[in-house]
Amino acid sequence: MGLEYGSPAARKFITTIGLITSDGPWGPNIMAAEWTHHISYNPGLIAVFPRPSRATTENIKKTKVFGVNIAAIDQNVISSIAGGNTGKEIDKIAVLKELGFEFYPAKKIKVLMVKGAAANIECKLVKTVKLGDHTMFVGKALEVSSIEKESIAYNGGKYYRLGEKIEKPPQEVLDKIAITLERHKKK
Ligand SMILES: Cc1cc2nc3c(=O)[nH]c(=O)nc-3n(C[C@H](O)[C@H](O)[C@H](O)COP(=O)(O)O)c2cc1C
Repeated sequence: MGLEYGSPAARKFITTIGLITSDGPWGPNIMAAEWTHHISYNPGLIAVFPRPSRATTENIKKTKVFGVNIAAIDQNVISSIAGGNTGKEIDKIAVLKELGFEFYPAKKIKVLMVKGAAANIECKLVKTVKLGDHTMFVGKALEVSSIEKESIAYNGGKYYRLGEKIEKPPQEVLDKIAITLERHKKK
């Protein structure tokens, strides 16, 4: 069965936003991807999931590189523009530059990176898998940097900043958990 866009269960996922930068047949481009996941520490691997119809998909297939810029809490406007328009029709990079947002050339690949993102990761494509109605591109990190800025959180079509930290349970509950774990140890 489907797990449709906007359905109650689909809206329970909380994600970061990857601002995926690319170059290729559609020129320098940026898209918003809530499905951006860190999937290996060593080597550093990241999976992004654009639909086959996206300009980004065609760019990455051609050049086999992409930038992952983890959107910071003050980058919701970049995400909305990158996610609300296609590079097949609009030069989003030019729009964003004109609106005052800044980019810098990636060090290891021929792609623009977003200045002021919480993290910037330059990726080389190592695997492509068509999965359902999206394509998974796995990128190997070639260059990584991050700054002291919180990532934006995304849920049910809205942007959030992370709120209050959930406190640990009281010590007696932690003790009970430890005893219970001990009792259920596999021999
Ligand atoms: C916050 C947000 C998250 C999104 N996440 C994804 C995603 O993970 N995968 C996807 O295919 N489209 C996603 N989209 C939609 C694309 O960003 C949108 O279709 C965009 O126009 C594609 O750009 P392109 O055609 O220039 O590549 C998202 C949109 C927004 C606003």
